[in-house]
Amino acid sequence: MKFSALLSLVLPLTTVLASPTSRDLAPRADTSLTGYLGVFFLGDAPNIYFYLSNGNNALSFKALNKGNPILVPKLGTKGVRDPSIINGAGAEAGKKWYIIGTDLNIATTTWDASQRKGSLKIYVWESTDLVNWGTERLVTVENSDAGMVWAPDAIWDPAKGQYLVHWASKFYAASDTAHSGKPGADVIRYAYTSDFKTFSKPQTLIDKSPTSIIDLSLIQLSENSFARFIKNETATNVFMERSDTGLFGTWTRPGGGTTFIHSGVEGPYAYADNITPGKVNLLLDYYGSDGYRPFTSTNLNANAWVDASRTNFPKNLRHGSVLGIKQDQYAALNAKWGS
Ligand SMILES: *[C@@H]1O[C@H](CO)[C@@H](O)[C@H](O)[C@H]1NC(C)=O
Repeated sequence: MKFSALLSLVLPLTTVLASPTSRDLAPRADTSLTGYLGVFFLGDAPNIYFYLSNGNNALSFKALNKGNPILVPKLGTKGVRDPSIINGAGAEAGKKWYIIGTDLNIATTTWDASQRKGSLKIYVWESTDLVNWGTERLVTVENSDAGMVWAPDAIWDPAKGQYLVHWASKFYAASDTAHSGKPGADVIRYAYTSDFKTFSKPQTLIDKSPTSIIDLSLIQLSENSFARFIKNETATNVFMERSDTGLFGTWTRPGGGTTFIHSGVEGPYAYADNITPGKVNLLLDYYGSDGYRPFTSTNLNANAWVDASRTNFPKNLRHGSVLGIKQDQYAALNAKWGS
């Protein structure tokens, strides 16, 4: 019997046994994490800005570097949007961090042109201490029939032992090399990497055609459970789906049908709370208004999101990411970039 045939016998059984317990699991509070590092771009500036939490509060931040950018790209369009900070994992756990972002300076192009002949590359910065960052590289991840590569983000795929990097693209007919015709819907694409230098051949991860979708954000809830947040570009709302059967398992939408979280938003980013077990913090970018606003939920089996206090949450932060950090990392970031 081939191994794959054996797997197909074993998998349904383990799925049945595992699902009752895995559904109840939720992100665990991690007592070694004592703060958060936020990495964003700002509405009028396609550079990368760092924010440090005030204490161990997931929704209270202060600007680092006196509010000046930490990273300013020199390559490509010289404009970065949608930065995502990635924890090194596997052999790189605790030794490597990456920031990846969209290569798009909208001041030098138009929204139409940037989706026809936009950059097919992503920016990559890396650090070995989370505090000091080198200069960026640009890496091509998409094929030439793609119009753009938007909002790259990554999640460690424990089953594969590599980083799964994903982004949004739309595609033109092979004969339409000028990309002047009508493209297909925006879909989510992905590739694997171990070093953010070489990437596997890109493939489609999520296709909701005819709905255009962008801005995927994934969070791992337990070993096999994940939630994903996606912008419906047709309706300009953000919705959530979850899988209790892994990254390539069956995804369903809690609440069913076309349930969505909020409209007029994009760039969702979800991160586990350091203190409260099962609590997820969610940022939604009110791109037509004052940028990110925070929401929280303790039940990702439902679309049960509550508005969080914005009192200490800075205004005008745009699509970015937040990482839980340890005490020594917090102290080092504050020493180098605080005040
Ligand atoms: C996106 O929004 C449109 C317009 O409301 C709706 O018809 C479509 O079903 C939505 N698609 C998804 C995947 O939610």
